[in-house]
Amino acid sequence: MVSNSLIALYTGLVLSNGVQFGAADTAPSWQKYVRSPASNTVKPVAVVSDSTVGNVSNPNGLVDGQEPTVLSRNTESDQLPTIVVDFGQNVVGVLSLQFSGSQSLSTGLPGLRLAFSETTEYLTDRSDFTRSDNASGNEKLTNGTDQVAVKNSNYTWSDLHGCENGTQVCSDGLHGFRYVKIWLEALASDAPYTSSLGSVSISGVSLEWSAYLGTPDTFTGSFECSDESLTQWWYDGVYTVDMGTDVFLANETEPRSASSPTLEGKQVLFDGAKRDRDPYVGDLAVSSLTSYLSHDFAEPSRNVLEDLAQHQRSDGWIPPASIVDLVMYTGNTSYANTYWNTLKNALDGYYAANTDSATGLLYKNDTGYGDYAFLPRSGPVTYYNALYVHALSYASQLATSLGLDDDAERWSSRASSVGKALLSHNFDQSVGAFYDGGPCPGAAAGTYCNVHSQDGNSIAILAGVTNDTTSAQILDYWQNATSQGYGNAFYDSSILSPGDQFNSRVYAFISYFEIAARFATPGQASSAFDELRRLYGWMASHDPQITMWEGIGPGGAPYEGAFTSMAHGWSTGVVPLLTGYVLGVKPQSPGFKTWSICPVVDGGGLTWAKGQVPTPQGKIEVSWEREDAQTGVVFTLNIETLDGSSGVVCVPTLGLDNPTISMDGAPVNVSPDPTTGWASVDAAGGKHVFTVEA
Ligand SMILES: *[C@@H]1O[C@H](CO)[C@@H](O)[C@H](O)[C@H]1NC(C)=O
Ligand SMILES: *[C@@H]1O[C@H](CO)[C@@H](O)[C@H](O)[C@H]1NC(C)=O
Ligand SMILES: *[C@@H]1O[C@H](CO)[C@@H](O)[C@H](O)[C@H]1NC(C)=O
Ligand SMILES: *[C@@H]1O[C@H](CO)[C@@H](O)[C@H](O)[C@H]1NC(C)=O
Ligand SMILES: *[C@@H]1O[C@H](CO)[C@@H](O)[C@H](O)[C@H]1NC(C)=O
Ligand SMILES: *[C@@H]1O[C@H](CO)[C@@H](O)[C@H](O)[C@H]1NC(C)=O
Ligand SMILES: *[C@@H]1O[C@H](CO)[C@@H](O)[C@H](O)[C@H]1NC(C)=O
Ligand SMILES: *[C@@H]1O[C@H](CO)[C@@H](O)[C@H](O)[C@H]1NC(C)=O
Ligand SMILES: *[C@@H]1O[C@H](CO)[C@@H](O)[C@H](O)[C@H]1NC(C)=O
Ligand SMILES: *[C@@H]1O[C@H](CO)[C@@H](O)[C@H](O)[C@H]1NC(C)=O
Repeated sequence: MVSNSLIALYTGLVLSNGVQFGAADTAPSWQKYVRSPASNTVKPVAVVSDSTVGNVSNPNGLVDGQEPTVLSRNTESDQLPTIVVDFGQNVVGVLSLQFSGSQSLSTGLPGLRLAFSETTEYLTDRSDFTRSDNASGNEKLTNGTDQVAVKNSNYTWSDLHGCENGTQVCSDGLHGFRYVKIWLEALASDAPYTSSLGSVSISGVSLEWSAYLGTPDTFTGSFECSDESLTQWWYDGVYTVDMGTDVFLANETEPRSASSPTLEGKQVLFDGAKRDRDPYVGDLAVSSLTSYLSHDFAEPSRNVLEDLAQHQRSDGWIPPASIVDLVMYTGNTSYANTYWNTLKNALDGYYAANTDSATGLLYKNDTGYGDYAFLPRSGPVTYYNALYVHALSYASQLATSLGLDDDAERWSSRASSVGKALLSHNFDQSVGAFYDGGPCPGAAAGTYCNVHSQDGNSIAILAGVTNDTTSAQILDYWQNATSQGYGNAFYDSSILSPGDQFNSRVYAFISYFEIAARFATPGQASSAFDELRRLYGWMASHDPQITMWEGIGPGGAPYEGAFTSMAHGWSTGVVPLLTGYVLGVKPQSPGFKTWSICPVVDGGGLTWAKGQVPTPQGKIEVSWEREDAQTGVVFTLNIETLDGSSGVVCVPTLGLDNPTISMDGAPVNVSPDPTTGWASVDAAGGKHVFTVEA
């Protein structure tokens, strides 16, 4: 056993007295990881060289800006002149082309067609997805490409939603994409207004960025650690959510009746950049956390939640946990007061009305309502019950901090009884995990299908339904049964939907809850890091890279082919995971008035981590470093918290029997109470309590 080990904890001013890791650059070292374009006008970085076809002169002009690029087609037998530009990463907004003239060879202006794609795999002669694909009637403007009629003058064309001449030469407008293919051709239906002959001179291509521009000066949170990939993924996740943070406009939104007049013109968090441009509220469970922890820009989440609260279904249905997140992370207690009845109607109305008195479980009998993956399941589904327990406990925690003791007590005791009911009815002893909870397709109500899901099992652990032993058993089962090179699958069998290969489909969204459960369960940290690295390492190394995908299918491919959104905010759990577990910072009451700082320092091979967490009163700063040597381990934790706040700091003992612990330079006499395992520390002027982890 190593004996002369030191665990040093520094609080308050010590951080600013110069104990820092890394070089003291003029620009903070984290800034190099930021992915945002420098300004709202974004230029392509390359012309995809082997994609140029036909008579194209000076193709690189579109990138180097020296001479215009000219696409010419003199006869019908000539190939269609084509060029592909690459923006280097996924981007979103309205494309512009700067023209320096055109020449007509027959009647009509030379026409251009544009096809957008997030990946080269789905870069074809139609966009991988375009708004008209899912529109109907007058809203359906195109058959997959945007069209331009190039005039014989110097002007800038912008890809606005609409048609240039009646129903001719139409464009869908806004796109989320990395690559755009541009070629000289006119649709037969656009004749005689445009023609497939002639020449077009293009002197520039650019994108007017429409989403949140997350440049370094907008960051109020940050994260860095000794593993550069993990660090980079934190910023990639932020960029992915930034791409989906945008103003709600009916003409730029998912056309399948997603338009909400009360949201028009407001900032919202969309699901995806290219597709699903609709504020689906379930996604906020992850994407809002990324938003709060990076730019502390809560308005888009609040607008979506308020809109939902104002349209609460008469039966009370609304997802409650995201409302609690908003209040905990942003401290907006006036929001909590305004919508407290909404929360009560959901927890005490809708959920209570759907609880079966014989089993004490919530039943999903309404098969018409889809969850995050529109899963064909009904009955006492573990996922809904676990979410209910989580929402009850979390709302109870919030009620306590708001002094609403009756609500707090009622909800926590109901959380406990629903949790017990889940364990006694839904747990499958034969594998050591919860059943999904409903019958197999076609089987009688009340029977349990032999299938288990990632969502119910993970959230049951996080909601505190299981003890540490059972949690570890579930997580071991899950790792063994569902591990893939690109993450862990969301089902251990495909029985609920045999054609869809559920047992090899990975959702980063639901994996957030599993990885969080691993970080929260003793002994599982290394499996949490392993899963993070498989999942995010896969997306980071496959086209389009950087942004995070809606879902991953068999073989690690985009799960719904070209339709898949490759920039989906719900998949950015890496951000709250690294901030909440590796830095270890979480709010314990609204606005981080009380907090916990409990970093996971083992299992990931990390030697240091540091970062900042925005709160309404300012930043919480944390950094830790461990040095493992033959002679011992030295672990140093620096924290800077805010005046008037208080919380719990967990000091890991790193398996040492008798560590020396000092705080602000003075040794701390730790005599942990064996029943609770924590010691109170009277730090001069401080209000910290710290926990010594076994
Ligand atoms: C390519 O286009 C230019 C400009 O229109 C023309 O001068 C040239 O002859 C064309 N080249 C071929 C091979 O068609
Ligand atoms: C159009 O722009 C080109 C350079 O891109 C320039 O040579 C030409 O004179 C311009 N024409 C007019 C009419 O402004
Ligand atoms: C949406 O568009 C995709 C093609 O991108 C198509 O496969 C799908 O059927 C469409 N769905 C609806 C509901 O229009
Ligand atoms: C799409 O193509 C179909 C079949 O060619 C055609 O009937 C329809 O008018 C086209 N729609 C649009 C919006 O271009
Ligand atoms: C959508 O409509 C708004 C006006 O309501 C307009 O400012 C915007 O440019 C339009 N977007 C596109 C892509 O055409
Ligand atoms: C617009 O389309 C109509 C019908 O195809 C055509 O008659 C008209 O000439 C077009 N406008 C122009 C400016 O070409
Ligand atoms: C808090 O929420 C209220 C009500 O939803 C809203 O009007 C207000 O702007 C929010 N305050 C802050 C500081 O965001
Ligand atoms: C839901 O269905 C179960 C049986 O499948 C039944 O026991 C329960 O009463 C139903 N709940 C509601 C609210 O209809
Ligand atoms: C954990 O829970 C399980 C099932 O609820 C129970 O059988 C077991 O005794 C518990 N283990 C501990 C260590 O409390
Ligand atoms: C791991 O899974 C395989 C089948 O997928 C099973 O045969 C084996 O018993 C499992 N091992 C453990 C330790 O659960």
